[in-house]
Amino acid sequence: LGSAIALALGGSGLAADLTVGFSQIGSESGWRAAETSVTKLEAEKRGIDLKFADAQQKQENQIKAIRGFIAQGVDAILVAPVVATGWESVLEEAKDAEIPVILLDRGIDGSPDLYMTMVASDQVLEGKVAGEWLVKDAAGKECNVVELQGTTGSSPAINRKKGFEEAIAGTPTIKIIRSQTGDFTRAKGKEVMEGFLKAEGGGKNICALYAHNDDMAVGAIQAIKEAGLKPGADIKVVSIDAVPDIFKAMADGEANATVELTPNMAGPAFDVLEKFMADGTMPPKQIITESKLYTPADEPMKVYEEKKGLGY
Ligand code: AHR
Repeated sequence: LGSAIALALGGSGLAADLTVGFSQIGSESGWRAAETSVTKLEAEKRGIDLKFADAQQKQENQIKAIRGFIAQGVDAILVAPVVATGWESVLEEAKDAEIPVILLDRGIDGSPDLYMTMVASDQVLEGKVAGEWLVKDAAGKECNVVELQGTTGSSPAINRKKGFEEAIAGTPTIKIIRSQTGDFTRAKGKEVMEGFLKAEGGGKNICALYAHNDDMAVGAIQAIKEAGLKPGADIKVVSIDAVPDIFKAMADGEANATVELTPNMAGPAFDVLEKFMADGTMPPKQIITESKLYTPADEPMKVYEEKKGLGY
């Protein structure tokens, strides 16, 4: 398949020859918006003609967009799959059309034969890093945790939950007492946190919040403040993404830790795609991005400034 496509391209393998369809989930978070900007910039830089489709959080829209890309005969398809299941038919169609598919930032259930590669973090590890931070921070004290999960059925929601639970499993003093989806959005994060606080007698019983992304954490921080408690102190806050706003919260003492997820998934994706188009080199099935922990010890305002210029 590789050399057939390279030959069909006249063997040039030049990025300028490429038309790539990108089915994006939507814009639920600051991180997602940054990934969209970075992908567009990376494509522009390389002379790739990027066809962008925003699915507004709906898998059916993603499937429609992918079918559209196949009909247009694009050279490759990038997809950030909103949920993990239900991709077999449409990805089989892409495969039959000999169009390589690259998954960005989220995984899918099903055979790895359905796609060429996946550029994503190790999401179980992200949850683990967050959980290990809390185990260390709690230092043997009783700690009741409330959890804001990402979109139900999405790979980061499933894996970040799993990783966190694994990290606290050996520490019976830390318990998850409530866990609900906040859909990866700021508004839902706030709303669900308000519910947690109400259900837990105003929040005195809650020691920490674990949010599957920073946007939900930022929403929850607002809810904690409105409940008369101090986020970052009365309720510790640990989350994932490392978007600029969480560094502001850290600088204000309102957030305690975040695990970085780079929004630049497209760079590595285009690198392997260009190579594949040039000489048929098949990339590894997974290209894993780094999961670095940040805390207020890492000069949050400096990181905030640095991040601001990176597509956020
Ligand atoms: O799939 C990556 C996740 O999706 C990010 O952590 C979250 O912010 C986003 O919306």
